[in-house]
Amino acid sequence: MNIIIEKNYEAMSKKAAEIFSEFIENKPDCILGLATGGTPVEMYKNLIRMNKEGKVDFSKVNSINLDEYRGLSGDHDQSYRYFMNTNLFNNININKANTFVPNGLAKDIEEECKNYDERIEQIGGIDLQLLGIGNNGHIGFNEPAEFLNTKTHLTHLTEDTIQSNARFFDKIEDVPTEAITMGLGGIMKAKRIVLIASGEGKANIISKILEGKITTDIPATLLQVHPDVTIIVDEAAAKLIKQP
Ligand code: F6R
Repeated sequence: MNIIIEKNYEAMSKKAAEIFSEFIENKPDCILGLATGGTPVEMYKNLIRMNKEGKVDFSKVNSINLDEYRGLSGDHDQSYRYFMNTNLFNNININKANTFVPNGLAKDIEEECKNYDERIEQIGGIDLQLLGIGNNGHIGFNEPAEFLNTKTHLTHLTEDTIQSNARFFDKIEDVPTEAITMGLGGIMKAKRIVLIASGEGKANIISKILEGKITTDIPATLLQVHPDVTIIVDEAAAKLIKQP
């Protein structure tokens, strides 16, 4: 895994946006895997600015998001579809019909998950996947567990994840307890992966995923077997990385 350490959140976000825009320049019709959460917000702002300046063109890009809360419609201001629309898609020249986020209101969840995986295959697989990381090592909403799923599936969020996502909701009881998430197989099949993390709160988990031991208790450790992963962190998140 390559690691890039930037001074602060702003520099980390700029670096990540540059990697994405260069990638799109080289492959204008690429398939991007995208993430939500607090971390990518500034990176998306950079991409919006670059798009407005004519430096990156999303017109032929397709995107696949990692996850969506179960029970929230795309209009709900805490749904991940709403997040993507307001933080990126509404502000760039992407064709919204080419942006995919799981349907949190799907009646038949199994069917929704199966269709989501089929769609990823149909459009040619993910070229470049963006990941954030949970304090507990989750990627997408693949939470620590004895067994991990390879395919898109319904997952129960851990107490830790519910607590940490409560900051986006009025009260903790409003945080959905389930989500649809791409599985580890879907993530690992991406040709290239960029994981971003910022702040002291992520320092412990970042040092763990670089340690060299793979465990389903920390799903992100699986990234060690992927051939092309770049981790971009700021100095605060890099604080506990052991020097070689
Ligand atoms: C979001 C996602 C999650 C987040 C992770 C970190 O689509 O899949 O894995 O990336 O929970 O979230 P933040 O960036 O809010 O710390």
